Amino acid sequence: MKGVILAGGTGSRLNELTKITNKHLLPVYDKPMIYYPLEKLANAGIKEIVIVTGPEYSGHFVNLLGNGEEFKVNLTYRYQKEAGGIAQALGLTEKFVDGDNCAVILGDNIFEDSFEKPIKQFNSGAHIFIKEVEDPERFGVADFFEEKIGGIEEKPKNPKTNWAVTGCYLYDSTVFEVVKTLKPSRRGELEITDVNNYYVKKSLMTYTKLNGFWSDAGTIESLYRAATLVKNSKNELK
Ligand code: DAU
Repeated sequence: MKGVILAGGTGSRLNELTKITNKHLLPVYDKPMIYYPLEKLANAGIKEIVIVTGPEYSGHFVNLLGNGEEFKVNLTYRYQKEAGGIAQALGLTEKFVDGDNCAVILGDNIFEDSFEKPIKQFNSGAHIFIKEVEDPERFGVADFFEEKIGGIEEKPKNPKTNWAVTGCYLYDSTVFEVVKTLKPSRRGELEITDVNNYYVKKSLMTYTKLNGFWSDAGTIESLYRAATLVKNSKNELK
Protein backbone atom coordinates (compact mmCIF):
# COMPACT_ATOMS: atom_id res chain seq x y z
CA MET A 1 0.00 0.00 0.00
CA LYS A 2 1.35 3.40 -1.00
CA GLY A 3 0.33 6.67 0.68
CA VAL A 4 -0.90 9.77 -1.14
CA ILE A 5 -1.33 13.14 0.59
CA LEU A 6 -3.15 15.72 -1.51
CA ALA A 7 -2.03 19.22 -0.54
CA GLY A 8 -2.61 21.13 -3.77
CA GLY A 9 -5.25 23.81 -4.28
CA THR A 10 -5.02 27.47 -3.38
CA GLY A 11 -6.23 27.80 0.21
CA SER A 12 -8.10 30.93 -0.84
CA ARG A 13 -10.67 30.51 1.94
CA LEU A 14 -8.02 31.24 4.56
CA ASN A 15 -7.45 34.76 3.22
CA GLU A 16 -4.56 36.62 4.87
CA LEU A 17 -3.09 33.50 6.49
CA THR A 18 -1.96 32.01 3.18
CA LYS A 19 -0.07 35.14 2.13
CA ILE A 20 2.89 33.96 4.18
CA THR A 21 2.96 30.19 3.58
CA ASN A 22 0.98 27.27 2.19
CA LYS A 23 -2.36 26.44 3.84
CA HIS A 24 -1.17 22.94 4.77
CA LEU A 25 1.76 24.28 6.78
CA LEU A 26 -0.34 26.52 9.03
CA PRO A 27 -0.61 25.41 12.66
CA VAL A 28 -3.45 23.24 13.90
CA TYR A 29 -2.98 23.64 17.66
CA ASP A 30 0.63 22.50 18.22
CA LYS A 31 1.65 21.10 14.81
CA PRO A 32 1.66 22.12 11.15
CA MET A 33 -1.54 20.89 9.44
CA ILE A 34 0.32 18.47 7.13
CA TYR A 35 1.75 16.52 10.12
CA TYR A 36 -1.70 15.11 10.92
CA PRO A 37 -2.35 13.27 7.62
CA LEU A 38 1.34 12.34 7.40
CA GLU A 39 1.36 10.79 10.87
CA LYS A 40 -1.94 9.00 10.14
CA LEU A 41 -0.40 7.20 7.16
CA ALA A 42 2.96 6.59 8.89
CA ASN A 43 1.22 5.18 12.00
CA ALA A 44 -0.83 2.86 9.77
CA GLY A 45 2.46 1.32 8.61
CA ILE A 46 2.78 3.03 5.23
CA LYS A 47 6.40 3.68 4.29
CA GLU A 48 6.24 5.17 0.78
CA ILE A 49 4.31 8.43 0.63
CA VAL A 50 3.86 11.08 -2.07
CA ILE A 51 2.75 14.63 -1.30
CA VAL A 52 1.05 16.58 -4.10
CA THR A 53 1.63 20.30 -3.55
CA GLY A 54 0.16 23.36 -5.24
CA PRO A 55 2.12 26.23 -6.72
CA GLU A 56 2.15 28.44 -3.62
CA TYR A 57 5.17 28.07 -1.33
CA SER A 58 5.74 24.50 -2.52
CA GLY A 59 9.41 24.77 -1.42
CA HIS A 60 8.25 25.22 2.17
CA PHE A 61 7.10 21.57 2.24
CA VAL A 62 10.59 20.33 1.48
CA ASN A 63 12.10 22.73 4.05
CA LEU A 64 9.80 21.31 6.71
CA LEU A 65 9.55 17.61 5.82
CA GLY A 66 12.64 16.83 3.72
CA ASN A 67 12.86 13.15 2.75
CA GLY A 68 10.61 12.09 5.63
CA GLU A 69 13.29 10.60 7.98
CA GLU A 70 11.72 12.24 11.01
CA PHE A 71 8.52 10.28 10.33
CA LYS A 72 10.38 7.07 9.36
CA VAL A 73 8.92 7.20 5.82
CA ASN A 74 10.21 7.94 2.32
CA LEU A 75 8.68 11.10 0.96
CA THR A 76 8.28 11.98 -2.72
CA TYR A 77 6.76 15.18 -4.07
CA ARG A 78 4.56 15.93 -7.09
CA TYR A 79 3.47 19.35 -8.26
CA GLN A 80 -0.06 20.30 -9.32
CA LYS A 81 0.09 23.48 -11.40
CA GLU A 82 -3.48 24.62 -10.79
CA ALA A 83 -6.38 23.67 -8.54
CA GLY A 84 -7.95 21.24 -11.04
CA GLY A 85 -9.58 19.16 -8.34
CA ILE A 86 -8.80 16.42 -5.86
CA ALA A 87 -9.15 13.69 -8.50
CA GLN A 88 -6.77 15.57 -10.84
CA ALA A 89 -4.20 15.77 -8.03
CA LEU A 90 -4.60 12.02 -7.42
CA GLY A 91 -4.09 11.33 -11.14
CA LEU A 92 -0.61 12.89 -10.90
CA THR A 93 0.53 10.10 -8.58
CA GLU A 94 -0.08 7.19 -10.98
CA LYS A 95 3.60 6.48 -11.68
CA PHE A 96 4.47 6.70 -7.99
CA VAL A 97 1.69 4.26 -6.98
CA ASP A 98 2.86 1.97 -9.81
CA GLY A 99 0.09 -0.64 -9.76
CA ASP A 100 -0.16 -0.95 -5.95
CA ASN A 101 -3.17 -0.10 -3.77
CA CYS A 102 -3.16 3.40 -2.31
CA ALA A 103 -4.41 5.21 0.78
CA VAL A 104 -5.32 8.77 -0.18
CA ILE A 105 -5.75 11.50 2.43
CA LEU A 106 -6.54 15.19 2.02
CA GLY A 107 -3.88 17.48 3.46
CA ASP A 108 -6.43 19.55 5.40
CA ASN A 109 -8.29 16.68 7.09
CA ILE A 110 -7.66 15.95 10.79
CA PHE A 111 -8.74 12.52 12.03
CA GLU A 112 -8.74 11.00 15.49
CA ASP A 113 -9.38 7.40 14.40
CA SER A 114 -6.53 5.15 13.31
CA PHE A 115 -6.61 3.77 9.75
CA GLU A 116 -4.29 0.88 10.52
CA LYS A 117 -6.92 -1.89 10.56
CA PRO A 118 -8.94 -0.86 7.48
CA ILE A 119 -5.72 -0.29 5.53
CA LYS A 120 -4.41 -3.76 6.46
CA GLN A 121 -7.78 -5.35 5.58
CA PHE A 122 -8.27 -3.56 2.25
CA ASN A 123 -8.06 -5.75 -0.85
CA SER A 124 -9.70 -4.25 -3.90
CA GLY A 125 -12.24 -1.71 -5.19
CA ALA A 126 -12.64 1.37 -2.99
CA HIS A 127 -13.25 2.14 0.67
CA ILE A 128 -14.47 5.41 2.23
CA PHE A 129 -14.71 6.68 5.81
CA ILE A 130 -17.92 8.43 6.79
CA LYS A 131 -18.85 10.58 9.76
CA GLU A 132 -22.21 11.94 10.95
CA VAL A 133 -22.08 15.77 10.96
CA GLU A 134 -24.41 18.72 11.58
CA ASP A 135 -23.49 20.56 8.35
CA PRO A 136 -23.49 17.86 5.64
CA GLU A 137 -24.09 20.41 2.85
CA ARG A 138 -20.37 21.39 3.13
CA PHE A 139 -19.20 17.92 2.09
CA GLY A 140 -19.70 14.89 -0.09
CA VAL A 141 -22.77 13.18 1.44
CA ALA A 142 -23.43 9.43 1.36
CA ASP A 143 -26.84 7.81 1.25
CA PHE A 144 -27.58 4.14 1.75
CA PHE A 145 -29.36 1.27 0.06
CA GLU A 146 -29.78 -1.85 2.21
CA GLU A 147 -26.77 -0.97 4.42
CA LYS A 148 -24.56 -0.37 1.36
CA ILE A 149 -23.62 3.06 0.02
CA GLY A 150 -26.38 3.95 -2.48
CA GLY A 151 -24.72 7.09 -3.85
CA ILE A 152 -22.69 10.17 -2.94
CA GLU A 153 -23.68 13.77 -3.68
CA GLU A 154 -21.09 16.57 -3.64
CA LYS A 155 -22.23 19.48 -1.45
CA PRO A 156 -25.99 18.91 -1.96
CA LYS A 157 -28.36 21.76 -1.08
CA ASN A 158 -30.77 19.25 0.46
CA PRO A 159 -28.64 16.38 1.82
CA LYS A 160 -30.39 13.00 2.01
CA THR A 161 -28.46 12.05 5.18
CA ASN A 162 -26.03 13.57 7.71
CA TRP A 163 -23.21 11.21 6.71
CA ALA A 164 -20.26 13.19 5.34
CA VAL A 165 -17.66 11.44 3.21
CA THR A 166 -14.37 12.35 4.88
CA GLY A 167 -11.09 13.01 3.12
CA CYS A 168 -9.54 9.56 3.37
CA TYR A 169 -10.01 6.99 0.61
CA LEU A 170 -8.57 3.56 -0.18
CA TYR A 171 -8.32 2.45 -3.81
CA ASP A 172 -6.88 -0.33 -5.88
CA SER A 173 -4.86 0.62 -8.95
CA THR A 174 -7.95 0.81 -11.20
CA VAL A 175 -8.53 4.29 -9.74
CA PHE A 176 -6.14 5.85 -12.24
CA GLU A 177 -8.20 4.55 -15.18
CA VAL A 178 -11.34 5.93 -13.52
CA VAL A 179 -9.71 9.38 -13.11
CA LYS A 180 -8.93 9.42 -16.85
CA THR A 181 -12.65 9.11 -17.69
CA LEU A 182 -13.74 12.13 -15.58
CA LYS A 183 -15.10 15.41 -16.92
CA PRO A 184 -14.77 18.69 -14.97
CA SER A 185 -17.72 19.49 -12.70
CA ARG A 186 -19.64 22.78 -12.60
CA ARG A 187 -16.92 24.22 -10.38
CA GLY A 188 -14.36 23.25 -13.04
CA GLU A 189 -12.72 20.45 -11.02
CA LEU A 190 -12.24 16.71 -11.40
CA GLU A 191 -14.26 15.52 -8.43
CA ILE A 192 -13.29 12.71 -6.07
CA THR A 193 -17.04 12.15 -5.56
CA ASP A 194 -17.32 11.13 -9.24
CA VAL A 195 -14.49 8.63 -8.69
CA ASN A 196 -16.27 7.23 -5.63
CA ASN A 197 -19.62 6.97 -7.42
CA TYR A 198 -17.96 4.85 -10.10
CA TYR A 199 -17.15 2.25 -7.43
CA VAL A 200 -20.61 2.62 -5.84
CA LYS A 201 -22.28 1.83 -9.20
CA LYS A 202 -20.06 -1.22 -9.69
CA SER A 203 -20.88 -2.42 -6.13
CA LEU A 204 -17.18 -2.24 -5.31
CA MET A 205 -17.48 0.39 -2.57
CA THR A 206 -17.17 -0.46 1.13
CA TYR A 207 -17.09 1.90 4.09
CA THR A 208 -16.20 2.46 7.74
CA LYS A 209 -18.12 4.70 10.15
CA LEU A 210 -15.63 6.78 12.14
CA ASN A 211 -15.99 6.93 15.92
CA GLY A 212 -13.49 9.66 16.80
CA PHE A 213 -13.54 13.33 15.88
CA TRP A 214 -12.95 14.51 12.32
CA SER A 215 -12.64 18.00 10.88
CA ASP A 216 -11.38 19.67 7.77
CA ALA A 217 -9.31 22.83 8.34
CA GLY A 218 -9.70 24.74 5.09
CA THR A 219 -11.76 27.68 6.36
CA ILE A 220 -11.13 30.04 9.27
CA GLU A 221 -14.00 28.42 11.20
CA SER A 222 -12.97 24.84 10.55
CA LEU A 223 -9.28 25.60 11.24
CA TYR A 224 -10.28 26.94 14.66
CA ARG A 225 -12.58 23.95 15.24
CA ALA A 226 -9.87 21.45 14.27
CA ALA A 227 -7.38 23.08 16.68
CA THR A 228 -9.94 22.95 19.49
CA LEU A 229 -10.71 19.27 18.85
CA VAL A 230 -7.00 18.42 18.92
CA LYS A 231 -6.48 20.44 22.12
CA ASN A 232 -9.44 18.78 23.88
CA SER A 233 -8.39 15.28 22.88
CA LYS A 234 -4.89 15.94 24.27
CA ASN A 235 -6.41 17.14 27.53
CA GLU A 236 -8.43 13.92 27.76
CA LEU A 237 -5.24 11.86 27.40
CA LYS A 238 -3.50 13.69 30.28
O1 DAU B 1 -13.00 17.43 3.66
C1 DAU B 1 -13.75 16.43 3.01
C2 DAU B 1 -14.35 16.95 1.71
O2 DAU B 1 -13.24 17.31 0.83
C3 DAU B 1 -15.24 15.89 1.04
O3 DAU B 1 -16.39 15.66 1.83
C4 DAU B 1 -15.67 16.35 -0.35
O4 DAU B 1 -16.39 15.32 -0.99
C5 DAU B 1 -14.44 16.72 -1.20
O5 DAU B 1 -14.83 17.23 -2.46
C6 DAU B 1 -13.61 17.77 -0.48
O6 DAU B 1 -14.36 18.97 -0.38
P1 DAU B 1 -13.76 20.46 -0.39
O7 DAU B 1 -14.42 21.24 -1.47
O8 DAU B 1 -13.88 20.99 1.00
O9 DAU B 1 -12.23 20.26 -0.76
P2 DAU B 1 -11.15 21.40 -0.96
O10 DAU B 1 -11.31 22.05 -2.29
O11 DAU B 1 -11.13 22.30 0.24
O12 DAU B 1 -9.80 20.56 -0.95
C7 DAU B 1 -9.43 19.77 0.15
C8 DAU B 1 -7.98 19.37 0.01
O13 DAU B 1 -7.78 18.65 -1.21
C9 DAU B 1 -7.00 20.52 -0.02
O14 DAU B 1 -6.60 20.85 1.29
C10 DAU B 1 -5.88 20.01 -0.88
C11 DAU B 1 -6.53 18.97 -1.79
N1 DAU B 1 -6.69 19.48 -3.19
C12 DAU B 1 -7.81 20.20 -3.52
C13 DAU B 1 -7.97 20.71 -4.81
C14 DAU B 1 -9.20 21.48 -5.21
C15 DAU B 1 -5.69 19.25 -4.11
O15 DAU B 1 -4.66 18.60 -3.78
N2 DAU B 1 -5.84 19.75 -5.39
C16 DAU B 1 -6.94 20.46 -5.79
O16 DAU B 1 -7.01 20.89 -6.97
